[in-house]
Amino acid sequence: MKFFVDTAIVKDIEELNSYGLLDGVTTNPSLIAKSGRNFLEVIAEICDLIEGPVSAEVASMDYENMIAEGEHLARIASNIVIKLPLTLNGLKACRHFSQKGIKTNVTLCFSANQALLAAKAGATYISPFLGRLDDLNIDGMELIREIRAIYDNYGFNTEILAASVRSANHVKDAAIAGADVATIPPDVIRNLVNHVLTDKGLAQFERDWAQTGQTII
Ligand code: E4P
Repeated sequence: MKFFVDTAIVKDIEELNSYGLLDGVTTNPSLIAKSGRNFLEVIAEICDLIEGPVSAEVASMDYENMIAEGEHLARIASNIVIKLPLTLNGLKACRHFSQKGIKTNVTLCFSANQALLAAKAGATYISPFLGRLDDLNIDGMELIREIRAIYDNYGFNTEILAASVRSANHVKDAAIAGADVATIPPDVIRNLVNHVLTDKGLAQFERDWAQTGQTII
């Protein structure tokens, strides 16, 4: 499973990238607003830092402006992925970019039929939002399973990008359900490594090692 980080905070991207754990980055208008940075500047900076795909979202809802914005964003760097909303105009724009060989991420997916449409439009990635479904007491993971079954039935190449991930269990369950990618907030990525028995075991090793009075170097 590939790991993307879901943030526009450059410091977090630099840190997580230094561990060799990042395959890409996703952003959205809310994350850009949270960063307090200029959209085009911060996206260019992230694309310089990360070799993998970096999703940048169009702001317009009408087809012509989606195309104009997407083409402008695509010129920033070769690893840009144009993020488009799951609307008829977004799907039409997705078809346009996929025919031009520009990668796309169709976002705000909440149903298997929406995911089927995105695959038919040639999307590189489909982003089902797990956490926002769970917030409504709808099983977000079931959506991943449904999309996996449909894409496998028809051999679609669109990658399932589990989004709106809120916990370590979301990451594990999305991996079991067959998501190709998870886009994960920085704190959830850091949290994946934690286990109380790892901490306890290390503390014991440290104590026992100190008793030997030895050093390795
Ligand atoms: C995905 O690309 C979105 O940016 C993101 O995962 C949304 O997550 P949220 O529901 O926590 O805002």
